[in-house]
This record gives sequence, C-alpha cells and structure tokens, in this order.
Amino acid sequence: MIAKERVKFPVRVGLLGCGTVGGGVLRLLEENREYLASRVGAPLEVTRVLVRDDEKDRVPECRREWLTTRADDVLSADLDVLIEVMGGEEPARSLVARALDAGKSVVTANKLLVARHGTELVARAVANGADLAFEASVGGGIPILRTLREAFTSDWVVSVHGILNGTCNYILTRMRDEGLAFDDALAEAQRLGYAEAEPSLDVDGHDAAQKLVVTSMLAFGASVDVASVPVEGIRSIDRLDFEFAARFGYTIKHLAIGRDLGDRIVLRVHPALVPKTSVLANIDGVLNGVKVVGRALGPCLLVGRGAGDMPTAVSVVADVVDVARSKIGGEPGLATRGIQVKERPLVPLAEVHARYYLRFDVEDRPGVVGAIATELGRAGVSIEQMVQDGRAKDSDSAVPVLLVTHETDERALRGALVAIGAQGFLRGQARLLRIEAV
Ligand code: NAP
Ligand code: HSE
Repeated sequence: MIAKERVKFPVRVGLLGCGTVGGGVLRLLEENREYLASRVGAPLEVTRVLVRDDEKDRVPECRREWLTTRADDVLSADLDVLIEVMGGEEPARSLVARALDAGKSVVTANKLLVARHGTELVARAVANGADLAFEASVGGGIPILRTLREAFTSDWVVSVHGILNGTCNYILTRMRDEGLAFDDALAEAQRLGYAEAEPSLDVDGHDAAQKLVVTSMLAFGASVDVASVPVEGIRSIDRLDFEFAARFGYTIKHLAIGRDLGDRIVLRVHPALVPKTSVLANIDGVLNGVKVVGRALGPCLLVGRGAGDMPTAVSVVADVVDVARSKIGGEPGLATRGIQVKERPLVPLAEVHARYYLRFDVEDRPGVVGAIATELGRAGVSIEQMVQDGRAKDSDSAVPVLLVTHETDERALRGALVAIGAQGFLRGQARLLRIEAV
C-alpha cells in the first residue's frame, strides 16, 4: 500500500507490451504528463516495458532503456501499477496473477484474459487488496464498464445491446451502403488496417462474445464460461439480405445481447435485423455503440471508437489514474471491490422468443410457397409478411422467398425449417436472422 507520504514520490508503472495499445499509452502518459500528475496527485513514472523484440522501432515516447525481453525485470521492479497490453492468454494470465499475488494493481486491455479468467483474477485482486481494472477490454475508448460500475450502481441493468466489434460493423456498413460482397468488404477493411490478416476472431463473432462476457460481469454480476455463449458471425450475410431487410424496414447489425431475466440471463452474439430508424442501426463504420437499459433509468446510449492506439490508451490511462489515486488515498482495491460475480445460468438459444426474418432460395414451381407456409403453420409459427420475388431465369436458378414471422419460439421455428428442408425444393440453406427491437 502506498502511504499518504508517498504522494510526493512518483507512482511507478510497468508495461507488459508496447505494440499498438502500449505505444498509445506511452504517448498519452507523455503528452498529458503534467495534467495526469495533477489528477493523480503524483507523477506517473514508467519503469520497465516488456517486449518480444527489443530492437524493433517503437513510438518515440518509448525509451530504449525501459525495454526488456524478460518478464522478471518488469515484475521484480519496484512497481505500483502493472499495465498488461501484451494480449493473449499465456503468459499474460500468469504474469497478471503473479503481480496481483504480490499486491500490485493491474490494468489490462485484454478481453480474452478477462473473459476466460476474470472471476479468478478479481478474487486474487480482492484477496491481496489490489485493483484489477479492465475498461479498455470492451469498446476501446468508450467508458462502458465504468458507466456500469459507477453510474448504474443505483439501478438494475435490464438489458445490454452492443455493437462491440468495429471490424464487423465496418464490413456490414460497406455491404449495406455500397452493395459490396462480404469478401470484398473484408478485403477493404484489411487494406485500411481495420481488420486483421487473420480475421476469424472478429468476423466469426468471438471477439464480441469475449467483450459481452466481460460486460456481463458488471451488468449482471455474472461469471460465465465464454464457450457457453451462443455465437454467430457475419460470413453468411449476403448483400441481398440487406435489400430484403430494407424492404421490411430494417438493416442488419452484428449485436452482442445481454438480458437479465431474474433466474437466468440471456447472452448471445449474432447478426440481427434492427429497425432502420433505431439509434443502433445508425452507428456505422468502425464505431462501437452500446445501449444499456436500466430498470429505473430506461435507455442510455454510449457511442465511440472501439479500437485504435489512442482511444484504447484513453481507457487504459484512465484506469491507471483511478488505481493510482485509490492507492494514494490509502484504499487500494476500490475499483475491484465493486465487482461481485457469481455463476448465472444462461437461457439456451432454443428458448429464444423473437420475431424472425427468413430467406429461402427455392425452385420456382407451384406449391412451394404453400408448402413453406404449411410447415410453419404446423409448427405454430405465425407469418407477419411474406414476399416472393420475380421469376427464375431457368430451371437451374432459384427465386428468393422472404418472410418475417410474428414472435415465436426458436425451437419450433427450427423444427419447421428441418421439415421444409426435407421437401427438396430448397437451393442452399434457409437463412434465419433474429429481429431485435432495439
Ligand atoms: P500488439 O500491437 O500485437 O502488441 C503486443 C505487444 O506485446 C508487443 O509489444 C509485443 O512485443 C508484446 N508481446 C506480446 N507477447 C509477448 C510475449 N510473450 N513476451 C513479451 N512481449 C510480448 O497488440 P495490441 O493491438 O496493442 O493489443 C494489446 C491488447 O489490447 C490485446 O489484449 C488486445 O485485445 C487489446 N486491445 C487492443 C485494441 C486495439 O485497437 N489494438 C483495442 C482494445 C483492446 P513486440 O512488439 O516485441 O512484438
Ligand atoms: N478487433 C476489434 C474490433 C478491436 O474490430 O473491434 C479490438 O478490440
């Protein structure tokens, strides 16, 4: 613990990693040095910085004498706050655990680490009177966790709907606005540096799922195994789906959804139709956005840059300021003490009750539309709107049949889709997208 008389000394900060985010953190610490010192009550001084390659060119604010390739050099330094911006599961988990066990507070941007080990790491922090702060792990520069922890402390979070992956949001925006195919929009996102060369973590939805699990720790006090969260990505979205969704008054967004039902919680990540006029429908490009509904407050919306060196550094350094202040005030562990999680069961996808958009590419012959409607009716699924578009060019071509259902159980709907598939007139898989009233 830093005693009050330590205020006249610097707060010493070590970094694990100096890549995109670490570089941004060093820049922000330097650019705002005086201001941060006045906010904290003591200067923030960098001690050591762990990297893989200490010969690499880095931001000018990173001094060569700080660099080391040995984690022990950082952890055994006289340190008040450890910033983990190296990413990945190991060695990040072991190093963070070691720091917490030694009573050193940790600030991390690592969603994978917090999603998989957050419960254990929070417990370690509490046991050792240290802080564990992880604002940057969700929504980059958007203060969503801080908002949930502090502003919603007097309210009950009913639901969270988030656009939490900028890569998916950029690709879907370009598909909608320019009619690009998924592959072309992804290639463009990669060219512009928004998407990774290996994009599956983003476009298959796992990045958003990790962020949702971290968010649900604060929103619902939930400790959830990220592997149990139903996840769908955006690879199967077709530009035609945007055209058809628009006819019904919707657009398509990739959403991370959480809802507290009291006995259980809903957590799911998937593309969904959202009303064109809704706020989330109009958060475009690489921006992230989160709509939180509080029982007393009602809706509250946060929008901003969910990635990038400086936006993410803003969240990391804000956490460092909080952690340093609570230590200087003689009350380390304040940020972590607000987090109380317990295991909460998830509602399975089969029990989702929603309206659905369905697209069938079918043979163009009499009786097909009737057969679809009959099977849906037999399963108790009520149709709200139905469109059959144009004529097939020849016997090898398909025509799309589009449907919007009334509210129905997903289990019943999926049963009907199996029965429709068995009839032999579908060309390809039926497409199912949930409709979210955000
Ligand atoms: P990055 O650019 O790849 O930087 C990672 C840094 O950690 C590099 O400096 C690397 O050293 C170092 N490093 C990685 N593994 C190491 C190891 N085993 N030993 C020593 N050093 C190691 O990653 P980033 O984009 O900054 O992301 C860092 C974290 O922030 C991740 O958890 C990420 O999910 C999270 N985050 C990133 C963003 C974003 O916009 N980039 C936004 C929000 C959250 P070298 O430089 O020598 O290779
Ligand atoms: N890859 C993430 C995204 C940014 O595309 O939103 C880091 O969390």
